[in-house]
Parts: sequence; structure tokens; C-alpha cells
Amino acid sequence: MSEEYLFHRQPKEVPLIETKHRRIRTMIPVPESMEIIERSVKYEPWSMNHQLYAVWDKAVDYQVFDRWGNIWIDFSSGIFVTNTGHGNPAMVEAIREMIDKPLLNSYYYFLEQRSLLSEQLVKMSPKHMDKVFLLTTGAESTECAMKLCRIRGRKKNPDKVGMLAFSGAFHGKTLGAQTMSGKPAAQAWIGRPDPYIYHLPCPTDPFRDMDQIYDEEAGRQKFQEDIENLQKQGVDPDTIAGAIFEPYQGWAALFYPIGYIKALREFLTERGALLVSDEVQAGFGRTGKLFGYEYYGVDVDLICCGKAVSGALPLSAVLGNREILDVDGSLNSTHGGSPLPVTSALANLKYLEAEHLVEKAKEKEKILKEKFSELKDRFPDRVVSIHGMGMAYAAIVVKPGTRELDVELVDRIIERAFEKGLMSIRTMTGTIKVGPPLTIPEDALIEGMDIVIESMGEIIAEQDGRA
Ligand SMILES: Cc1ncc(COP(=O)(O)O)c(C=O)c1O
Repeated sequence: MSEEYLFHRQPKEVPLIETKHRRIRTMIPVPESMEIIERSVKYEPWSMNHQLYAVWDKAVDYQVFDRWGNIWIDFSSGIFVTNTGHGNPAMVEAIREMIDKPLLNSYYYFLEQRSLLSEQLVKMSPKHMDKVFLLTTGAESTECAMKLCRIRGRKKNPDKVGMLAFSGAFHGKTLGAQTMSGKPAAQAWIGRPDPYIYHLPCPTDPFRDMDQIYDEEAGRQKFQEDIENLQKQGVDPDTIAGAIFEPYQGWAALFYPIGYIKALREFLTERGALLVSDEVQAGFGRTGKLFGYEYYGVDVDLICCGKAVSGALPLSAVLGNREILDVDGSLNSTHGGSPLPVTSALANLKYLEAEHLVEKAKEKEKILKEKFSELKDRFPDRVVSIHGMGMAYAAIVVKPGTRELDVELVDRIIERAFEKGLMSIRTMTGTIKVGPPLTIPEDALIEGMDIVIESMGEIIAEQDGRA
């Protein structure tokens, strides 16, 4: 078990709350819920049990309900899945029809809904993409993208297997995905990582505000330096098969310098290598664009989708063109394109389009921008920078006067906010990060952000009182 901050597991009295959007009417955690929590703690790995102690009973749109009358505003979207709102009625209806048939499994035999989903995804993708491969998890989609880069690279040259990735990035937890992720501690278990996956240093300084990403010349220059360093380490640029990047690094909603990504694109094109955008978290309107890579003004060759592509059930996808996706006979899997996730995804994407949620995410960004500035103004020695676009925002929280991320302070803040009726994201990295469903009403968004600000004020005052 790690030495992380432990959320309060003993039920305690908290102020009762009743507003239009949230309700806390019991001790927290709820005494009656402890039997369920303790059962999970007993039988599941610890890492499945260190979230906020709420037992979800139902979730509707931007709200999460337990069985005992408590209601939370959800700022996590079930970790960036429910962009179109929890329990979206269009999705529930579509899934119910499939259940009523019933058709719950089909391996990869032909299925009308799957053909329609594939068509829909291709229609939503950039013009040069005409095929999509359906899988189950985000990690599978990034693994698959690496495989496709290498298959294609090796056709040109057997040594063309190099993958560029970034330190600080996250692409999933299976072997290849974890190796591409740039978090050394999380990779320690691998022992002997793939020597042809190269991590470039994250070119964005998390401790500075976002303006830095718009200095195009500085971004391009940084890329040149990084490639020269790679060459000095003996890497032949012609052996690079592809590069993978998230439009923003998840832990801090950290976007890359635009000039850097443009220079990376040019470098790859000159060498016949592919650029992969990992949109598992950023995709489907989260950033105020359909896909987050659109902010960089470049084309990408492969798009990895997960989470919000289905809006609820497990589904992921790799979008690309037929020259890349038709090269390999192994692109199928047991649950990839299973009837219920496929049905859910189709209804979800249609809803996203019909309700103009991508545009709405961009509009609501104004509220997050304003509220995060307020957070920074209120706590200038703690909140050093703000990052984000659309409905993915984060604040970097440090110990005063240092560049040391204050993980425990943030954990305490989100715990306090939870006691006040806000379900937020635990990044465990010292960032306050929010990602509400794109459907959240503006007043609920404001109320949620006010809870964050209030909770931060209380926890800091309590800490100062203790000091
Ligand atoms: C950018 C990104 N890529 C890949 C993944 C892995 O997705 P999954 O947990 O579905 O395997 C995640 C999950 O958080 C992610 O944020």
C-alpha cells in the first residue's frame, strides 16, 4: 500500500446541505454504506479503493446519487466518459432496445449498429480518414496505434520501429501503453522497457501559465533541441516510425507548445513516420473542439479514442486511413465492437452533435477560466499556474515558495468539497482538475467551482491554524 493521504473512512458529522444542485443529508461516509465499502476494501486491490467514499446508486446528467438521499455535482464525468451526461436518455433507450431483443454479444460477426457506428465515426473524423477499428479500452487503442506505426515503418526499413512519446504523458497501463507513458515510477514494474520508445522531455513548463504555448518560434526551437539531443544519444531519426501525444497531458490539462507539435509533424512527414493523437481523454468535445489536436493546426495520421466515444460503456477506437488500417490481419478482438457499447456510442455521438455540445463546451469554458483565475487570485502562493481548454481545466498547487506539488493539500481539498456535495477528480499529483459533463448547467458549474474555492480556503485556514 502506498503512503498516500488516506481519506476519512470513519463516518463523521458534516454540515447538512440542500441547494438546487446538491444535497448532503447524512454523515459522510454514510454509516449504512460502510458494509459495501468494507467489502470492496476486503476483496479488491487497494488501488480500487482509494477514491472518495461514496457508493454510487445512480447518476443522471451532471449529478451522482447515493441510496441515502445524498446528491453530488459531478466534476469528473466518471473520469471523462460521460461528456453527454450520465444516464443519457437517448443512450439508455438505444441500449434497452438491444437488451430487449436480446443481443448482448456478437464477436465480430456483422452487426448493423456496428456498421452504423463505424460510418458515424468516419464521418466525424478528418477527411483523409476512412476506416475505424473498434476495441474496448483506451490502452488497447494506444497499443494498437503503436503496432500500426511499426508495421508501416518496418515495410520501409526493418529498423524503423522507434516511437517518440513524452515524459509526463499517459497512454494506459498495459505493457506498450505504459511504456509509452512518461511516468518513470509507474513504469518501474516493466524492468526492461522497450529500448525503441524514446521520451522527449515535456516541452511545457507546468509552473508557468498557458501563454507559453503560443510562442511558436520558441516551440519549434525546443523541438529542434530535443531531436538533436536524441541524435546525440545515437538515435537515427530515419528509424522513427511514429510519435504519440495527448492534446493535453491529463494530470494538469497541460497543452503543448503549438510550434513544437507543428515541428514534430514536419519532422515525421519528412521521414514517412506517423503522428498519433491520443484523444482518449481529450476527444469528443472535452476541449471545446471535437478532437483536441485541432488546436495545433496539424493533420494527424491516427486518432485513438476511448472514454467519451461511447459515453458510458467500454469502447475504444482507432481512426485512420485504409492504407494504415488494412495492413494487418490481426485487427479484431473478442469484445471489440460488442453490441451494447456500440449501441451506446452511436446514440451518444448523435446526441453530442444534435445538442451542439462541442460548441457549448467552448462557451462554458469562460466560466472555468474566470473561476480558476479567482482561485489563483485568492491563493497566489499556492496556485502557481492554470491550464486547460473547454471543459478540462487544472490548477497546479505547490507548497508556498517552492516548485513542490502539494499532493496532500489537494487531496484534502477534494475531500472537503466532497463533504459539501462535489464529486471531483483525484489526480494524486497536486493538481485541482475538473472535467464536468458538457451538459452541466451554468449555475451548477459556478456552484461547483465555488465549492472548490471555499474548500481550499477552509483547508488552508485549518492548516495555518495548526501551524
Ligand atoms: C490520454 C489517455 N490515454 C489512454 C488512457 C487509457 O484508457 P483506459 O483506462 O480506458 O485503458 C487514458 C485513461 O485515463 C488516457 O487519459
